[in-house]
Amino acid sequence: MNRNLSDIEMSGIRKFFNKVNNVDGAISLTLGEPDFKAPMEIKYGMIKAIEEDKTVYTDNFGILGLRKEISKYLRNKGINYSYEDICITVGGSEALFSSLATLINKGDKVLVPTPAYPAYENIVRILGGEVVNYYLNEDFSLNFIELERVIKESNIKYIILSYPSNPTGTILNEKEYHKLIELIKENNLFVISDEIYESFCYEKYYSLAMDSDVIENIIYIGGFSKMFSITGIRLGFIAAKGKTFNEIGKVHQYNVSCANSIGQYGVLEGLKHGLYNVEKMKNEFLRRKIYVEKRLEDVKIDFISPKGAFYVFPSIKKYNLTSEEFCERLLYEEKVACVPGSAFGKAGEGYIRISYCYSIEELKNAFDRIEKFINKIR
Ligand SMILES: Cc1ncc(COP(=O)(O)O)c(C=O)c1O
Repeated sequence: MNRNLSDIEMSGIRKFFNKVNNVDGAISLTLGEPDFKAPMEIKYGMIKAIEEDKTVYTDNFGILGLRKEISKYLRNKGINYSYEDICITVGGSEALFSSLATLINKGDKVLVPTPAYPAYENIVRILGGEVVNYYLNEDFSLNFIELERVIKESNIKYIILSYPSNPTGTILNEKEYHKLIELIKENNLFVISDEIYESFCYEKYYSLAMDSDVIENIIYIGGFSKMFSITGIRLGFIAAKGKTFNEIGKVHQYNVSCANSIGQYGVLEGLKHGLYNVEKMKNEFLRRKIYVEKRLEDVKIDFISPKGAFYVFPSIKKYNLTSEEFCERLLYEEKVACVPGSAFGKAGEGYIRISYCYSIEELKNAFDRIEKFINKIR
């Protein structure tokens, strides 16, 4: 066996989700999966592709039309990648794996935020890299003093950034954007920028890939699972320049050959004619976010208002329970499931993740129960 796997566990998010199935009548706020139907344009594109027998391998990097459409989509956001810089992947997940496998040599140090999406740390470890965590400010913004210290101390080459963030909902703001560009230039850092929640940004969107000076140092990761509510279709992409792109191509080719052909035709239709669906989902998420924030305020749970994605990451520190204990008790006593913050790394302890990929009605039922629970443990 690969010895790197020995201290790697299955995702804590899934573990907790699985517990929910054993509790009759439990309401789950655990999943990071939009609850909307797939846009009809995407379904139409896929049905047509099946009828036309497009069930064979595509080009390794994906169908040309989709690569061009992604390039256009990104350009509209101020991010300049040509279609030749774009590789269609099996979700953001494969994009992350192929990118990190391209970069990491045994023992290479990779800066990973904490709290963060658990795959980052685990992929780095599977590949024999060394995880070096960087901690965030109390409001989940970047702590540049800490970042610079860690970069200098550990002689860091690679950093993972994740905006909008799962689990905190933080986005990159203008000040951080400029400061990060300076940091990248000064330290010749290489960035893996996971932006799969880009389409759910409730304030102005900044991506480091907007800056032409540093774009060569960036691997941009995008995805359609969340954007189009098609998590099972498994499509995402990598955008990168020059040699980086060529090297990623080797890993991607020997790993998956190509992404799912039918899904690619579906997403092509979605990008061409179905972007209004994304806008509709975003508006609904915003409505739910406002609702969830109001309920959290009412019951006096501390939280930082998320600016993107569809999660809120409230603090439970004042209740003197670990995040695991808090979530277990909430599940077994009031039948509501949230994910313990500890599933998102060291700095996740003291928090819980609430997903608002659920209808207002479900959220209302869940929060009535959460309120009862908080009144009990206060
Ligand atoms: C931050 C982040 N990146 C990447 C992924 C992978 O998503 P997918 O492989 O479905 O595109 C997820 C899924 O939850 C995520 O939250």
